[in-house]
Amino acid sequence: MLDAPPPPLRDIAAIQALAAADMAAVDALIRDRLASDVVLINQISGHIIAAGGKRLRPLLAVLSARALGYRGDAHHTLAAIVEFIHTSTLLHDDVVDESGLRRGRKTANALWGNAPSVLVGDFLYSRSFQLMVELDSMPVMRILADTTNAIAQGEVLQLLHVRNPGTDEAAYLRVIERKTAVLFAATTRLGALVAGADGATQQRLHDYGLALGYAFQIADDVLDYVSDAETLGKHLGDDLAEGKATLPVIHAIAHSDAAGRDRLAQIISNGDAGALPEVLAAIHAQGSLDYSHAVAERYAAAAVAALAGLPDNDWTRALRDLARYAIDRRN
Ligand code: IPE
Ligand code: IPE
Ligand code: MG
Ligand code: MG
Repeated sequence: MLDAPPPPLRDIAAIQALAAADMAAVDALIRDRLASDVVLINQISGHIIAAGGKRLRPLLAVLSARALGYRGDAHHTLAAIVEFIHTSTLLHDDVVDESGLRRGRKTANALWGNAPSVLVGDFLYSRSFQLMVELDSMPVMRILADTTNAIAQGEVLQLLHVRNPGTDEAAYLRVIERKTAVLFAATTRLGALVAGADGATQQRLHDYGLALGYAFQIADDVLDYVSDAETLGKHLGDDLAEGKATLPVIHAIAHSDAAGRDRLAQIISNGDAGALPEVLAAIHAQGSLDYSHAVAERYAAAAVAALAGLPDNDWTRALRDLARYAIDRRN
């Protein structure tokens, strides 16, 4: 007997279609809970939220809960919580990174300045805590408290590596675990938790999200060198301008000859945005984009492997297919 062929990979549009009803409910909840009677808060939070973004974390919350047969609506609240946390980190991140473009729009810091961006980031952050309380679950609170604290540590850790050309791959991975992967892991674990899954299943979803988060951030760091602003909705070369040594540059430094290494180190030490063409040439010469993509592939494969043993349904398959999307996406 022939083995049945594996079901074809779904693209992101098909995954979004599967979750469309849930995501519409999440969107309505997000809009409802954004409201404040302080006009500037509505302007800034409306600006960044209405720009959309991929809404990947809420999608993960929905898919994880649904994969485990959940029929209630707590996953909508969970999805709004993680998107609020994520958006608040973006407001803060764009201040720290001095970024000018986000989700295809001028950043809040470019339009309103740093102080309002930080403060409205705090508003979104604390609004997420208000939503958490509504879930009335100490395990949920504990995971999200630990996660938000880890993200803050990740961002500070990253700051310590800015303009440091000695940053190696292990240090880079430690940063991206905290600044990005832990929120993915918490999101998918909590999807399982609200669905009433047992501890082992929650752990599988955690492992899936963590590996996916690594893959996603490595892909983001590649896109910062190879995309274009219109597709990405962010300016290219922001990482270099900030003196942030991400995986492509770390690999290029490690594999260049002494002169090339010294030159790249100087560029990172100076956060020399004007040297982008030079850095791109070095990255291409050393095969650093292919290398980075291969590392992202390994994490994506680990994410898929973590799904083994979950119920075989459309939602689980969508989680599997998101691992491919996370590394092959264009924005
Ligand atoms: C941006 O996240 C920050 C990173 C972790 C790379 P996303 O790429 O998910 O941002 P939006 O929500 O789609 O704008
Ligand atoms: C994003 O890191 C991590 C957080 C927002 C916590 P990046 O600095 O790489 O994200 P982008 O590229 O600005 O979206
Ligand atoms: Mg940034
Ligand atoms: Mg980036």
